[in-house]
Amino acid sequence: PVKVAQQSRFATSSMLMATQDELKQQVGYKAVDDYVKSGMVVGLGTGSTAYFAVERLGQKLASGELKDIVAIPTSVRTKEQAEELKIPLVTLDTHSKLDVAIDGADEVDPDLNLVKGGGGALLREKMVEVCADKFIVIVDESKLCDGLGPGFPLPVEITPFCHEHTLRLIANLPTTKGCEAILRMGSSSTNKPDGDEIAVTDNGNYIVDLHFKEPIKDAPKMAMELKNTVGVVDHGLFCGMTTAVIIAGSDGITVKE
Ligand code: 5RP
Repeated sequence: PVKVAQQSRFATSSMLMATQDELKQQVGYKAVDDYVKSGMVVGLGTGSTAYFAVERLGQKLASGELKDIVAIPTSVRTKEQAEELKIPLVTLDTHSKLDVAIDGADEVDPDLNLVKGGGGALLREKMVEVCADKFIVIVDESKLCDGLGPGFPLPVEITPFCHEHTLRLIANLPTTKGCEAILRMGSSSTNKPDGDEIAVTDNGNYIVDLHFKEPIKDAPKMAMELKNTVGVVDHGLFCGMTTAVIIAGSDGITVKE
């Protein structure tokens, strides 16, 4: 088994990548500048956008602009980045309540419900972000959608034990029927299972990506059905959790609450 691979929707032209990176940096920095104050407990998301929020927090701690911050990372990758930046880290075991959490998303619908988990960190992200007074989502405008589902596969984290059985169960729930369920493979940076080894999350679990042709009609209902399926650890539907979304687009930055 290999560590979990990141799903990607991005074009590969270096010019386009640079532009998207700039947008990600803008929202990552703005989230820290606007929502993080000295003395706070901060949740650190995972992914290429959250990376910039972590970077900004590190800069502001190093310069002394922010003080007495402790942070909780949502993945091993983010933990390593935070450690390099000397951001003091704690865990949910000692700090069950966070002032703010900042993270990216794979899709954002008009009600600010999210699909997350493209980077495979959905369980720790949800555990941390659900404990935050404010959950700030940072995205570029390509992540906005009218309905969750068809634009990005929905990740579901499952236990390795009898995973083919669990995959069949979650592909045949009343709300998921008709989706294509694909076990995430390791070397893939696309939506296709083109790696040789099953991807393994930071928690030692597998991920099934549910591909939908139509928008998900009732995300909270699907969330409940997935969560009630024995063998499912958690899923990438984040419903009713978002405080604000900071969106970077061609017209500048907007905030939706
Ligand atoms: C990781 C996530 C990420 O927040 C999501 O995949 C967005 O990542 P990026 O900012 O790289 O597009 O949910 O599990």
